[in-house]
Amino acid sequence: MRLSHAILEKNAFLLLIGTLVTVAVGGIVEIVPLFTIETTVEHVAGVRPYSPLELRGRDIYVREGCYLCHSQQIRTLRDEVERYGHYSIAAESMYDHPFQWGSKRIGPDLARVGGKYSNDWQYAHLKNAQQLVPESLMPHYAFLADTKLSTNDIVERMRTLRAVGVPYTDDQLAHAKQDLLTQADPGADPKALLARYPKANVVPGHGRPTELDALVAYLQVLGTMVNFADPATERRLAQ
Ligand code: HEC
Repeated sequence: MRLSHAILEKNAFLLLIGTLVTVAVGGIVEIVPLFTIETTVEHVAGVRPYSPLELRGRDIYVREGCYLCHSQQIRTLRDEVERYGHYSIAAESMYDHPFQWGSKRIGPDLARVGGKYSNDWQYAHLKNAQQLVPESLMPHYAFLADTKLSTNDIVERMRTLRAVGVPYTDDQLAHAKQDLLTQADPGADPKALLARYPKANVVPGHGRPTELDALVAYLQVLGTMVNFADPATERRLAQ
């Protein structure tokens, strides 16, 4: 045994082969189990795909490059948790394609901004941030309030996400346009919408949603899906 080890150590080529074999075994042991599970991210109660209006709002968030100034990931550090709330968990962005974790914080993290302010505050702030926060560096997005939201491709957008694993049901696809309009119309009955998308926040779009309506609907759902006060969720995360 000692002799064979000596041969291995004195021959660079054999040592290289031996090293490769050892590393490959380690790699296989780590990687192969991942093929046998559907996803590496465990589902957590409450996390659902975005409603059609939220989804369009998210598209606008990406188009306008909000991620260049805002992150959406609360780290497990005490100062972050005290400022923003419970740290982000993987399941919360499992239906984000692409994810919006961001890499820069010129403005605050937005992972839990949903429900932090009223709809009215969000509209006013997005139109003219300095009016509410005089020292703000944030650009004005008032033009979004004058831009009618294009809705005719909403089913295709949802279908595309379904192709990459977002579990939109046939029922959700069939009612996409209707759900989108309902979420932007406080006069409409939101019962069916809320059954398909719990916690969806209705915005005052008067039945003719603008891009700003969609963006506010998106911001208002961020970080609100998981109920961290629920003992079952707590136990799950502690595992
Ligand atoms: C140039 C950088 C910049 C860009 C781009 C930017 N923001 Fe901001 N944002 C800020 C700064 C700085 C603040 C903090 C001051 C304030 O509240 O206005 C802020 C604050 C916010 C807040 C309030 C957060 C809180 O917890 O108080 C929201 C919501 C927000 N931004 C949304 C957006 C959205 C949506 C977009 C894209 C349409 C966007 N921002 C683009 C810099 C930016």
